[in-house]
Amino acid sequence: MTAMSSSWIDIGALAAIPIQGARLVKTPKGCIAVFRTSHDEAYALEDRCPHKDGPLSQGIVHGRSVTCPLHNWVINLETGAAEGADKGQVATVRLKVENGRILLDASGLAAIGKKAEA
Ligand code: FES
Repeated sequence: MTAMSSSWIDIGALAAIPIQGARLVKTPKGCIAVFRTSHDEAYALEDRCPHKDGPLSQGIVHGRSVTCPLHNWVINLETGAAEGADKGQVATVRLKVENGRILLDASGLAAIGKKAEA
C-alpha cells in the first residue's frame, strides 16, 4: 500500500446495492445517495434533487442518470447536473471501488449540505 493524501471512507460492498438501485449514507451534513448502475459503476450524489430537494435515492436509475421520484427531473450521476431543459446541480462525491468495496473521498464530503446560493 502506498500512502495517499486523501482519505477514503469504506461505506460497504458494491454488491450490497441492488443493480440500478441506491443506498443512503448518512453524514453529519446530510444524506448521500450511492447509486449502482447496470454496468456495476457507482456514483455518489447528495440525496437532494436540485429542483425541490426530492430524494434522488428513491429515483429510477437508467444509464448514468437518475430520474427524481417527485417531478421526473433527470440528474446526471457523473456531474450532478440536471439534464434537458431543467437547470440545477447537486453536489457529487468522488469515490472509487476497490476489491468490491466502495470508498468515498472524505474531502468530497465537505461539499455536502452546502447548497449553491444563487
Ligand atoms: S424535486 Fe426532483 S424533480 Fe422536483
